[in-house]
Amino acid sequence: MKRKLALSAVLIASGFAFGNSAMAETPSAAMLGYTCAGCHGTNGNSNGPAMPSLAGASKDYIIEVMEYYATGERASTIMGRIAKGYTKDEVAALAEFFSKQKFVPAKDQKFDAKLAKKGAKLHDKYCEKCHAEGGTSSEDDAGILAGQWTPYLKYTLADMMSGKSHVPKKMKKKLKKMHKKTGDAGIEQLINFYASKK
Ligand code: HEC
Ligand code: HEC
Repeated sequence: MKRKLALSAVLIASGFAFGNSAMAETPSAAMLGYTCAGCHGTNGNSNGPAMPSLAGASKDYIIEVMEYYATGERASTIMGRIAKGYTKDEVAALAEFFSKQKFVPAKDQKFDAKLAKKGAKLHDKYCEKCHAEGGTSSEDDAGILAGQWTPYLKYTLADMMSGKSHVPKKMKKKLKKMHKKTGDAGIEQLINFYASKK
């Protein structure tokens, strides 16, 4: 109880600070970024396997995904609620900030080298066109896949495949084509490939 009271006092205090009209400037992108850092890590490199790293993702990609969360086009546990709490300008500022941070691949992720090798081939054939440079690039406004947290990638892909989350038309086609050929084994190989990228 004591802790709860202390926390609400902090929240009220910070709410007051931000709402205070004497503070003429809008919060800077870095300041807004701190509100995301608890989950997405300092400078957007997440420490938790269920939470994706944002660093190095393209600005337009982040803006787009925040919109999908806000509208519910992309399934989420918490981002739907969070994405609704920011104005377009704030989201643009945050996206700019995170896009300029350096992406650090998730540390010490386990992978099977044989599966990763097969996954590399599948990636080249079905995914490389948009997720360029072996999935390390976000330049075509597709997310960074290589070095992203495995659990996050797994459930995000599952939500995309089951129709719970938005999938770009052409990606859907490729994903379907691949899945028809390889079944779930292909997905597992891809996931191992992305985990193998350091
Ligand atoms: C309480 C933890 C938490 C906070 C705070 C949080 N996020 Fe998230 N974020 C998540 C989780 C978990 C996901 C995966 C989707 C889901 O389940 O909601 C995610 C996913 C995302 C993604 C998708 C990344 C990708 O590769 O597609 C973006 C973009 C994002 N968050 C941006 C933000 C921004 C910007 C903020 C700060 C305004 C923020 N998040 C604050 C937990 C959080
Ligand atoms: C025609 C271009 C295209 C192709 C081909 C493509 N993707 Fe994508 N992908 C995108 C775009 C654009 C997004 C972001 C927009 C969205 O989420 O709807 C995305 C998002 C993703 C995400 C979510 C990333 C994140 O950080 O949350 C995953 C996972 C993904 N793609 C996996 C794949 C895999 C695996 C393949 C190959 C089987 C593939 N994609 C092929 C364009 C493509």
